[in-house]
Amino acid sequence: MAATGTKLGHSTGQGIPVGDPEFFVQRVADSAVTTERRSAPMRMSEALWGIRWEEILPRQIDYDVVVIASSFEQSLPFIEANYSRIFEEEEDARFSHPSSTDPRVRYYRTVGDFFEFKQGDRTVALLIGTAADWSTYYIRSAAALPEVQGKKLIQRFFPEMFEVLKAGGVERVEADTSPSNMATLHLLSRLRFNPSGTVLTDRWGAHIKFTRYLDDAAEQVFLDQFCTGVRYQRRKHPGLRRAGRIGERQ
Ligand SMILES: CC(C)(COP(=O)(O)OP(=O)(O)OC[C@H]1O[C@@H](n2cnc3c(N)ncnc32)[C@H](O)[C@@H]1OP(=O)(O)O)[C@@H](O)C(=O)NCCC(=O)NCCS
Repeated sequence: MAATGTKLGHSTGQGIPVGDPEFFVQRVADSAVTTERRSAPMRMSEALWGIRWEEILPRQIDYDVVVIASSFEQSLPFIEANYSRIFEEEEDARFSHPSSTDPRVRYYRTVGDFFEFKQGDRTVALLIGTAADWSTYYIRSAAALPEVQGKKLIQRFFPEMFEVLKAGGVERVEADTSPSNMATLHLLSRLRFNPSGTVLTDRWGAHIKFTRYLDDAAEQVFLDQFCTGVRYQRRKHPGLRRAGRIGERQ
């Protein structure tokens, strides 16, 4: 599945254009048509928005890194081998050979979209997203191996992912993180997520919640209801253009 050595700005060996949002949007439309013909059980993103990531990906994200549509089962070895280290947790705090009857496993199988970042045969990062409701997508987990952190691999994929979600009808993307997670706070700000709350949880402690609007009308409501003073969301800002391409206002 890897496209080793392929340069940015060119297509991969599989004829996948790089940096072309239109291509993604067309794939969503195509996959919605396919959906009607299939009878196999479908994931939540497909059921709600007609998005079949496996028909939209792979996507080349760096000269030697490709994002592929994955699954819970396919991603599990990466999670088991690396999550404790990446998230600085106790060894057994995450999945460890989970039983297939574990409700978490059933949840992830039904609701989870898994995106593996492959460098050759090696997975170097994993992104997991889930539908939060009919118009809201939740970034449940993002994890890059320490040696590739800071290389913007996940950051570069987000704008493309948002294009697909928007084309499917998603109005907002939500995420939350610890106040101490500087890299994630920085990344979310860069991608034009709005701080939208505090979440106090039994599982992860206090988190700051963020919302990235894909729908202008929804963002306008947010601005009108809650924001006074300067509104960067309504400015054109060259520095934000690269990271948050779809946020550009015409
Ligand atoms: C957060 C994370 C998913 C971001 O993935 P990524 O695409 O590799 O991130 P980026 O390279 O775009 O980094 C985002 C910003 O944080 C900074 N950063 C990332 N990793 C860093 C690190 N280990 N140390 C210092 N700064 C770091 C980057 O410099 C970047 O800032 P910039 O855009 O000004 O250069 C990744 O760093 C990671 O896996 N962290 C550990 C797990 C985690 O915290 N997950 C999120 C939980 S909510």
